[in-house]
Amino acid sequence: MALFVQKDTLASYMKVVQPEAGKGSVASYIPALQQADPDAFGCAVHQGKEKAEAGDTGIRFTLQSVAKVISLALALMDRGREEVFSRVGMEPSGNPFHSIQALEKEKPAKPLNPMINAGALVVADMLQEKRPDTAADRFVGLIQQITANPDVDICAETAVSERNHSNLNRALCYFLKSHNVLENEVEEVLNTYINLCSVKVNSCDLARIGSVLGADGRDPETGEYLIPSWTAEMVTTFMVTCGMYDASGSFAINAGIPCKSGVSGALLGSLPDGTGIGVYSPPLDSHGNSAAGTRLLERLSSDFQLSIF
Ligand code: DON
Repeated sequence: MALFVQKDTLASYMKVVQPEAGKGSVASYIPALQQADPDAFGCAVHQGKEKAEAGDTGIRFTLQSVAKVISLALALMDRGREEVFSRVGMEPSGNPFHSIQALEKEKPAKPLNPMINAGALVVADMLQEKRPDTAADRFVGLIQQITANPDVDICAETAVSERNHSNLNRALCYFLKSHNVLENEVEEVLNTYINLCSVKVNSCDLARIGSVLGADGRDPETGEYLIPSWTAEMVTTFMVTCGMYDASGSFAINAGIPCKSGVSGALLGSLPDGTGIGVYSPPLDSHGNSAAGTRLLERLSSDFQLSIF
């Protein structure tokens, strides 16, 4: 099957939306992220062995909240659907990703979904094992397998930077701990969560992740299942309902692409025909989503009819 776009066309769309980056700003609450080049812009589209890549696709960046998709997949594979959703909900929050507001209202304090920070912290708690770094090692191993890239690893500098500026997530953890929602110690859970957010990839790795998720969890080359199909289906559904935080509704209308954003400027898109899209452009809009990246996906979707709806 031919890709919906080729390199030169992709590059011309990127040129058109690049000015959007100027309206956003690079995340600064994690100091290491602030070092990113605001003009960097890369996009990779993969489907099976077909690839189109344009711009700065070699630049590596941390997954940040894109990690939430794979950590949820891992927790579902470990514990099964029933246990996971007994501890974290399935509903969009309509709040910013780090909000504590909804947790106060829910009784018991169950986070609304696994894509917001509170939910991802509970998922990290479920992945926690006795040896401190086992969860992160397993997570990195799964990403290396999905991306077919053995160089994917944790960026220690970003992890340290986030750990030193994590009081909001620490507060969420203490809130959850005091309501008996976390089984493990706050600093252990936080550490695991931060390590997963700090895994470094490039746009091509993201495209490959999107391609595997869109192909029901199968390796695009060998057809081997890397993630069970029911898990791939579940995480891509969360990408539609919660992946772009409090902009998930408008993004579903404007693009209709299952997508997950990260504050590094990463966007992971996944289509049911096995097309994966990886975008990197660090300046963020007011929802914490890549400003130019979001616009690029909206434009591509509208011109090439990519919406799943
Ligand atoms: O926990 C945090 O604040 C970051 N490590 C990740 C947040 C994030 O990427 C939200 N996404 N747009």
